[in-house]
Amino acid sequence: MFVETARPIILTGDRTTGPLHLGHYAGSLRNRVALQHKHQQFVLLADARALTDNIDNPEKVRRNVMEVAIDYLAVGIDPRETTICVQSALPALAELTQLYLNFVSVSRLERNPTIKDEIQMRGFERDIPAGFLCYPVAQAADITAFKATVVPVGLDQSPMIEQTNEIGRRINRQIGRELLLEAKPLIPSTGRLPGVDGKTKMSKSQGNAISLSATPNEIRAFVNRMYTDPNHLRTSDPGIVEGNVVFTYLDAFDTDRAAVDELKERYRRGGLGDVTVKRRLEDVLQELLKPIRERRAAVSNDLGYVLDLLRSGTSKARAITQSTFDELRDGLGLFSLEQNLTKLNR
Ligand code: TRP
Repeated sequence: MFVETARPIILTGDRTTGPLHLGHYAGSLRNRVALQHKHQQFVLLADARALTDNIDNPEKVRRNVMEVAIDYLAVGIDPRETTICVQSALPALAELTQLYLNFVSVSRLERNPTIKDEIQMRGFERDIPAGFLCYPVAQAADITAFKATVVPVGLDQSPMIEQTNEIGRRINRQIGRELLLEAKPLIPSTGRLPGVDGKTKMSKSQGNAISLSATPNEIRAFVNRMYTDPNHLRTSDPGIVEGNVVFTYLDAFDTDRAAVDELKERYRRGGLGDVTVKRRLEDVLQELLKPIRERRAAVSNDLGYVLDLLRSGTSKARAITQSTFDELRDGLGLFSLEQNLTKLNR
């Protein structure tokens, strides 16, 4: 009989708040495409997580479920290798979240660096929505429900994985065995991709993100306005490569390492103009995004196919996540309606 050897399980996801951009690609999508053949991969369209800071705009969250699914297929996530599923249609994730909330304190959540930053950035103070505060717990539910051990994410998500493992260890201690597995973040060596303006993060709301569906003209315009070295005024001036977005992007996307190193060398020495470097980057990005854009257009013409994939992926995920919840319920020894009357354990 053919026995499938167990492949390590990957779970990752994206909040469905807008189309995906190059930051998502460098941070996680690229790893997913590369890893899907040697892993059992699940990808969540995290619409329930997206609601925690978009409850005033559920329509946006709903519309982007299909958009992000199309992005996945466009970048080369292969539905034969990867199960794509819709978070809000997986009730076990909500049940697990509810259970996990008993294993974490409010003060620990407030200290979660991602949550802490957001509280400050948005000026929430004590008025933080409870759903948002509990986001890390819900993400822990996502990851553990699939028994994932590998989580390809951007650097900013590593506190979430830490929090997941903390909750997992507490639960295992309560149950008395290793029911939940340790999850490891898989963070790209290129680090976080900055926005084209050089600001810390690429984000659609900041207008500094190149979306995966950008047209050739948009790509060109973004590259042209990219932040370089503000003191590199004349071609002959020596320039600085660190923090220079054009070089950061070349590092992330140009596969010819030697050529990039040589360009850096010349730029530092003086004698290399911004325009020359930008044209090279533009070529690299045009070449990267062209097939993605074309696949995107093709997939968009067959929405029935996409919906079918989401239906079958979600139904597979429903069984898996439900069975993890059942194991936890049994492990904790909660009441079960399925128990045998003769051995009734009141
Ligand atoms: N929090 C992630 C983000 O904002 C999205 C996400 C939700 C996720 N659930 C997940 C990522 C589980 C990895 C694993 O990008």
